[in-house]
Amino acid sequence: MSDDARRLLDAAREVAAGAYAPYSRFRVGAIVTDAEGNEYHGVNVENSAYGSSVCAEASAIVGAVSAGVRRIDTVAVGCLDGGECTPCGNCRQLMREFGVRRIIVQNDELEPVELTLEDLLPHSFGPESLGL
Ligand code: THU
Repeated sequence: MSDDARRLLDAAREVAAGAYAPYSRFRVGAIVTDAEGNEYHGVNVENSAYGSSVCAEASAIVGAVSAGVRRIDTVAVGCLDGGECTPCGNCRQLMREFGVRRIIVQNDELEPVELTLEDLLPHSFGPESLGL
């Protein structure tokens, strides 16, 4: 496992301390990097209407895209309140839109694990399917 993966996972776990998760008490942080090495942070932001909650990955991706990013290199996801934590189905599809090359998650030992989008979302639907 690369030092870079360890650093990004540690950074995601630090960011998770700022999560707004009063309902689940499951704090998640995410770091998105672009091809130039810029980093964008996100946390899960829950809501009393539970379905309006936003995942950490979605927060970070929306921040990056709002800043002009269209190709995402890496998404690192860290959780402070559990072991293995992998992105939900909706976040996998969000990642698919922006060509994520690598996803770093934590395993039960809190060690970084590197995955590809193909690992998480095989046979996916994406922009090319609509001619983009
Ligand atoms: N959550 C994330 O933010 N990212 C994940 O990868 C898994 C789940 C959030 C959603 C919700 O706020 C809480 O964790 C419990 O599901």
